[in-house]
Amino acid sequence: MTTTPGDKFSYKIELHIHLDGAIRSETILDISKTKGRPIISVDDDGQETVITDQESLDKEIVITTPCSLKLFLHAFNVFMPIIAGDRDAVFRIAYEFCEDCAKSGIRYVEARYNPHLLANTLDKPAYARERGDFSPRDVVITVCDALDKGSRDFNITVNSILCCMTHQPDWSAEIVSLCKEFKDRGVVAIDSAGQDFEPGKDPLLCGHKKAFKEAYDNGIHRTVHAGENGPSEGVREALDHMYAERIGHGYHVTDDPELYSRCKEDGVHFEICPLSSIITGACPEDIMKHPLIRFADEGVNFSLNTDDPIILNNALADDYVLANKMGLSDEQIINSIFNAARASFATEEQKKKMLQDLVNVYGEH
Ligand code: NI
Repeated sequence: MTTTPGDKFSYKIELHIHLDGAIRSETILDISKTKGRPIISVDDDGQETVITDQESLDKEIVITTPCSLKLFLHAFNVFMPIIAGDRDAVFRIAYEFCEDCAKSGIRYVEARYNPHLLANTLDKPAYARERGDFSPRDVVITVCDALDKGSRDFNITVNSILCCMTHQPDWSAEIVSLCKEFKDRGVVAIDSAGQDFEPGKDPLLCGHKKAFKEAYDNGIHRTVHAGENGPSEGVREALDHMYAERIGHGYHVTDDPELYSRCKEDGVHFEICPLSSIITGACPEDIMKHPLIRFADEGVNFSLNTDDPIILNNALADDYVLANKMGLSDEQIINSIFNAARASFATEEQKKKMLQDLVNVYGEH
């Protein structure tokens, strides 16, 4: 197993990482060149720039200082059209994902993505430049095939999570049905991602909620992005109306003392993404004010994760280092890795093995 030099944690678990946010930028360039598909960046005035080298590409898509959601979306607009709608490209990024995780010392990972964004069969494809016959279902099959092969070749366990998008509730019924269909191929859960919504008031969420109820009724695990940039109420909504077992981010839960205590008592698992939370402006730039410090000191159940490495240019070890800088001890980080194993959506057999491996590496926790 290869790990970053000086990396103290040789056995890592990642529960919150977006497959389409974890592509190698070299791969984007390579596919662009071999397929003759130009990488185009469009600025606010509609001015187009064609990108042909690594340095310019990284300048467009890597974000290192706190920014707006708009900049994040701009990055996706630059690289997603190179991958979306292309079966070989989707296979390649999912296969390379396994290799990159293994190289970072990750032994179990749940990769999440929305299949519609990578497909080209919709009336108006989200990112693909042309319409074609690569459907959301084909995307799921392709990703499952690639993750299967990658898991075997790089000796890592990889499951996947299908994301509903808050701005596209009409996709949610298909997402839950794909979760059901591909349950035996490592699709372990449903997620809700995308822009923040106004809790309780957003009629668009109806399709979403129905899908989460169906997931619950069919034994599909549930996690929900909530309380990231949006209010704590989003966390309550996810728990009470979407049957969420885990919360993606959830930093703003601390704004509501009653809800915070409830989450602590019930052991609700929070998928914390330290670097991401600062770059997206979800948490203060002053890292000593980060809610993670309170979570760790008060025994909240959480894991540490990377979110979107192609944009944040981070490896999981970097997020562990950042947690150390916030004052978390190595023991607290090891505890978070055990918590990640327990909160994972792995099969009972995978979970048992993972926990045994963790005890072998770090001792009982
Ligand atoms: Ni996320």
